[in-house]
Amino acid sequence: MLGKPMSNTDQPLPTRRQFLKSTGALAATGALAGVTLPHVHAAENNTVEIALIGCGGRGTGAAGQALSTSKGPVTLSAMVDVFEDRLNNSYDTLKKKFNDRVDVPKDKQFIGFDGYKHAMDSMKKGDVAIFTTPLAFRWVHFQYAIQKGLHVFMEKPVTADGPTSRRMLELSDQASAKNLKVGVGLMSRHARHLQELHKRVQDGEIGDVLLMRGYRMHGPVASAFSKRWPGKPSELLWQISRFHSFLWASGGCYSDFYIHHIDHLCWMKNGWPVKAQGLGGRHYRNAPDGEPWIDQNFDSYAVEYTFEDGTKFYMNGRCNTGAAPMYYSHVHGTKGMAIAAKTGDYSGPSSTHTGQRPTRENTLWQSKVPPAENDPYQNEWNDLMEAIRNDKPYNEAPFGVQASVVTSMGRMAAHTGQEITYDDMLNHPHELAPGIDKWTMDSPPPVVADANGKYPVPMPGMKNDREY
Ligand SMILES: NC(=O)c1ccc[n+]([C@@H]2O[C@H](COP(=O)([O-])OP(=O)(O)OC[C@H]3O[C@@H](n4cnc5c(N)ncnc54)[C@H](O)[C@@H]3O)[C@@H](O)[C@H]2O)c1
Repeated sequence: MLGKPMSNTDQPLPTRRQFLKSTGALAATGALAGVTLPHVHAAENNTVEIALIGCGGRGTGAAGQALSTSKGPVTLSAMVDVFEDRLNNSYDTLKKKFNDRVDVPKDKQFIGFDGYKHAMDSMKKGDVAIFTTPLAFRWVHFQYAIQKGLHVFMEKPVTADGPTSRRMLELSDQASAKNLKVGVGLMSRHARHLQELHKRVQDGEIGDVLLMRGYRMHGPVASAFSKRWPGKPSELLWQISRFHSFLWASGGCYSDFYIHHIDHLCWMKNGWPVKAQGLGGRHYRNAPDGEPWIDQNFDSYAVEYTFEDGTKFYMNGRCNTGAAPMYYSHVHGTKGMAIAAKTGDYSGPSSTHTGQRPTRENTLWQSKVPPAENDPYQNEWNDLMEAIRNDKPYNEAPFGVQASVVTSMGRMAAHTGQEITYDDMLNHPHELAPGIDKWTMDSPPPVVADANGKYPVPMPGMKNDREY
C-alpha cells in the first residue's frame, strides 16, 4: 500500500548508440567515419549494475527508477528476497517494463537471509546495491556493501534503536572513507518544491521559525495492524511480511509513516530537536470482526519535539477509520508561515504566506516544478547516479540516521511516557533485533506471542526505560 508505483515520468534510457553519441564517445572513436566501433566492453564498462535486495513494492519502484535515470546505462543484475513469490512478481514487473536492462538469470536470483551476500559477491566495485527490506536489516547489508566497494541506495527509516544507529553512523564514516556514494530514500530532500522552500525559509522569507506541525492521520494502512499469526509461514517470516506491526522490524507505524514529515520539517529548521515528549494510546484493541489486534503500535500519537532554541515541532499521527483525515506539514515563522507538504508525505505545491493562516491573498510564493522534475523518487536516483558517474561526494546516511534517531525518540517518548533526549535515544542500549546478521530461516523471531497470540505492547508510565 505504501509502495510507490513506478512513475509515469520514468524516462526511457538511451540506446547504446545514443548514449555514445550524447557523451561524445561515438564521434571520438571515429565510428561515424566508418572506423570500427570500440570493443563492447568499452560500453559495458560504462554500465552500472544494480542488485535489488528486498523485492517488494518499494524495491520494485526503486529498481525501476534506477533503470530510468538518463545518466548512462544501468542494468539490474541480481535480486534477493526471503519470499520467492515476491521476487518473481518483482522480476516479472520489471522485465515487462525494462526488457534487456533486466538481466537476472536464475543463478542471480537468491532466496534467504544470506542472499544479500551472494548478490553482492556477484557485483563489481562501483555497482549499486538497493536495500528495500524492512529497516532491521539495513546495517547488515550496508556493512557488506562497504566491504565489497558498492554504492548504496537504502530506503528509510534506516534504524529504530540506539545500538544500530550508532553502528550505522560508524558505517557511514567507513563508506565516505572509501568514497562510496550513499542515497537514502528520504525523497522530500529531492522534491524540487521543498528544496526551493528550504532556500526561502533559510533566506528569512517567513522570519525565524518558531513552530512546525506535521500531520499524518488516516485509516489503518499497510501492515500496521495485525491479527494473530496464522501458523504459517514461520513466525519470523510472518513478522517480516507484516513489518509495520513490529517495532524490531520497522520502528512500527510511528517510524515508518512519520519520518518523512519529521525529516523535512527538521530540514526546514536546519537542525534536529534535542528532546521529545509525547503521548498516544490504543483505543481499539479489536478488529471490527472482534478478533484482537496483536501488533505493537498505538493507533494515535501526539509528540512535541523541542529544538535547542526552544522552537517546537508537533507531530500528530493517527490510524483510525472514520476520524478526520489530515495529512500535511506546515512551518510557522515570525513573519509568516509556509506550507511544506500540501498533501501526503511531500506533495506540493509548497507556498509561503505573510500571515499565520494561508490564504490566496496573503500568498508570497507558490512552487512550480517542471513536469520532468516533479517526481522526487526519480530525482533522488538521478542525483545519486550523477554523483556516481561524476565522482561527486555523496553520502546521505548521516542525515538518514539522524532523522531515524529523531523519529525513534518521539516514538519512545510516546511509548514510555517519558521525556527522551536525542542523546538518550542514540545511546540507548536496547537493541531490538540482536544477532540479526546471523539469522537463518529457522531462527526464532525477536518477539514471541503470548498464549493469546499477542505481542508485548508499550505501557507508558509502567515500562519507562524500554518500549516493551
Ligand atoms: N520512501 C518512501 O516513500 C517509501 C515508500 C514505501 C516503502 N518505503 C520503505 O521501503 C522499505 C520496504 O517497504 P515496502 O513497502 O516495499 O515493503 P514490502 O513488504 O512490499 O517489501 C519488502 C520486501 O523485502 C523482503 N525482505 C524482507 N526481509 C528480507 C531480507 N532479510 N532479505 C531479503 N529480502 C527481504 C520482503 O519479503 C519483501 O518482499 C521499508 O523500509 C519502507 O519504509 C519507503
